[in-house]
Amino acid sequence: MFSCKTSPEVGGMGHSIKRKEDARFLHGKGNYVDDVKLPGMLHMVMVRSPYAYAKIKSINKDKALAIDGVLAVITGEDLAQYNLHWMPTLLSDSQMVLPTDTIMHQSQEVCAVIATDRYIAVDGAEAVEVEYEPMQAIVDPFKALDEDAPLLRPDKEGQENNHIYHWERGDKAKTEEAIAKADVVVKERIHLPRIHVASIETCGVVASYDKVTEKMLIYLTSQAPHAIRTIVALVAGHVGLSEEKIRIIAPDIGGGFGGKVPVYPGYVIAIAATFLIGKPVKWIEDRSENLVNGFARDYHMDCELAATKDGKIQAFKVSTLADHGYTDSSANPSKYPTGMFSICTGSYDYEHAFAELDAVYTNKAPGGVAYRCSFRVTEAVHAIERMVDKLAAEIGKDPAQLRLENFIKKEQFPYSSPLGWSYDSGDYHATLKKAMDMLGYDDYKKEQAEKRAQGKLMGIGISTFTEVVGAGPSKDFDILGIAMFDSAEIRVHPTGKALARFGTKSQGQGHETTYAQILAEELGIPYSDIEIEEGDTDTAPYGLGTYASRSTPTAGAAAAIAARKLVDKGKKIAAYLLEVSEEDIEWEVGKYSVKGAPEKSKTIQEVVFASYTNIPPGMEPGFEATHYYDPPNLTFPNGAYICVVEVDEETGAIDVKRFVAIDDCGNIINPMIVEGQVHGGLTQGIAPAMYEGIQYDDEGNVLNGTFMDYLVPTAVESPKWETGHTITPSPHHPLGAKGVAESPTVGAPPAIANAIIDALYPLGIKHLDIPITPSKVWDAIQEAKQKA
Ligand code: CDP
Repeated sequence: MFSCKTSPEVGGMGHSIKRKEDARFLHGKGNYVDDVKLPGMLHMVMVRSPYAYAKIKSINKDKALAIDGVLAVITGEDLAQYNLHWMPTLLSDSQMVLPTDTIMHQSQEVCAVIATDRYIAVDGAEAVEVEYEPMQAIVDPFKALDEDAPLLRPDKEGQENNHIYHWERGDKAKTEEAIAKADVVVKERIHLPRIHVASIETCGVVASYDKVTEKMLIYLTSQAPHAIRTIVALVAGHVGLSEEKIRIIAPDIGGGFGGKVPVYPGYVIAIAATFLIGKPVKWIEDRSENLVNGFARDYHMDCELAATKDGKIQAFKVSTLADHGYTDSSANPSKYPTGMFSICTGSYDYEHAFAELDAVYTNKAPGGVAYRCSFRVTEAVHAIERMVDKLAAEIGKDPAQLRLENFIKKEQFPYSSPLGWSYDSGDYHATLKKAMDMLGYDDYKKEQAEKRAQGKLMGIGISTFTEVVGAGPSKDFDILGIAMFDSAEIRVHPTGKALARFGTKSQGQGHETTYAQILAEELGIPYSDIEIEEGDTDTAPYGLGTYASRSTPTAGAAAAIAARKLVDKGKKIAAYLLEVSEEDIEWEVGKYSVKGAPEKSKTIQEVVFASYTNIPPGMEPGFEATHYYDPPNLTFPNGAYICVVEVDEETGAIDVKRFVAIDDCGNIINPMIVEGQVHGGLTQGIAPAMYEGIQYDDEGNVLNGTFMDYLVPTAVESPKWETGHTITPSPHHPLGAKGVAESPTVGAPPAIANAIIDALYPLGIKHLDIPITPSKVWDAIQEAKQKA
């Protein structure tokens, strides 16, 4: 167990300090992109396509331009003059900024209207006349691979069909051989549907170009402002935008969840527009635009899990079809087109695995963002956790027992997984047993048996997941070639107060508090004396941003190491002040003292003051340090979640009775913040499990593009989350910490799905894809009854 080294006043690791940033938010002093108002600022609104696939025959701007206050209508042809009508995606594909001839998905940007206020811009957008020639959209990814399917991307040289790429990992022959020889093989096609990243704040930008200084100031809803600055410079360098002249400020952000990693056409158009017009331009997405123009997930996974008849897992194979929409703009590191999907072997010890994936184009919005997930881990975990439950049902073994018998044992760490990861640490048995105790698993099993005898539908579902977060070692991980390290810079002022800046960017995770706690832990300076800044590329050290739970594993580590550099410097100063040699100085958090004479000591504040006022001869003055941290490995948090449900056979209604979540994210910086992260993440886990999923008709129309029909769960729909933790520190992280933010979103859906299927099992229902809604359950019950 972790014990706090510092007092609550100092507030180092392990203290549930109240979030420093909340005073600002609670007093209405948050500053979001839409709060930015610059003198002379113009407003941009998009004209969007009603069709999913169409030729643009003409765009008539006249009526729009005749409206008083409408200043410009920007089309793809206009951008083409500057070669800005296409842009690269993160994964070497290309995406239209604005189309010159073809529309590829419903709600795609057709042109942009710029006006003196937003209302006039909306009127202008309505007055633009676009003539389309609709074509038959390809909506089904399987049909997109038919030989006679029309070629969706003829613009791409050498592209002969709608197949984008094939990826595979593992030993196919040995895995197939093990499956062929196994006593038991369970199979299932599992679909993780498209869902929206429905953060409270939509995406937006205020771009302001000063023609005199040639400086481009961009306020952006970005989880990765430095990377975006580099991308803007690379893409627009040819028109004169050079990186030192570009300043991106990501102010407060109302939820990112991966959706604020990519570059959206609206950003590029606003930047191009201010560059050409010389006045600030604001573009803020409305809610429906945000809902329809991007997605996460959409994997169709054919899974096979092989085992001996008594349940020893032997092999896992998964073949996936990934629907990427009209371009592959998945937010993944360059060398990982399917993200960290190869974590799909899970928490279990077996030898053979093979994963492959084919990605296809369809007439849907591009995206594939890692929705609160370390790049496709949600899909991977859902596949293995559903399959382990299916195996348990098939051989009639308790799913908890089956897991306990197959877990990687704690003495096996570091564990080399069959698909190539090196899991750092974990005690999966302890985590699951803690969850079972907290729930009262055995009692619920008894209750279930009694209820089943009465014909009632009660289910218990487990998910025991392993995560992979903290990208990454730069030898393997990059975004468009930029290595994925992260950074911290600490400046301690003469009076012992500090300012620290980071290459990451909080979107609500509480970094202003937890980073201050890390520095308090290392330096002994109270957390309340430490200001944290992120998100301004002119001031923060270069970093790759916040997503995929990477902040603690990367920037958190950078903070600890930068602080340790200061402690070392302070030791020299303390020795000078106390007139002893450096070897005679002992450091305990916040204080240097002479070995054997503890009454002779200097506080960190005294030492810092001396570094500006009474510097040892030859020493560089000041008390500042920077560290760029390139992690040696990823961190592998894990968890055990158990869900109990009752299903009403008459209506299909699902009642989540209990949900116990035990997480292990190594050493915890702030237990209250971690609990908050888990609560929010669990609600974002119940969302795809029971409510959310984008639906399309055969023409490619989105059927649920507003919150009227796309149900995002709130506190009303959320059960009482019961949380706890085990702690197995990461052996390679300087603080022993692992990331946590996304674990609950990854772990919750299979626990809920497994519980519902377990409830329905007596009726012969063996699988349902999420979201498992009451109507889906009701339909399945009717079908099962007809078969019976
Ligand atoms: O990258 P992101 O901030 O989204 O994820 P994270 O590194 O998992 O951190 C989420 C929040 O939980 C941050 O405020 C972390 O400092 C905090 N955290 C913690 O207190 N202890 C941990 N072991 C991991 C995260």
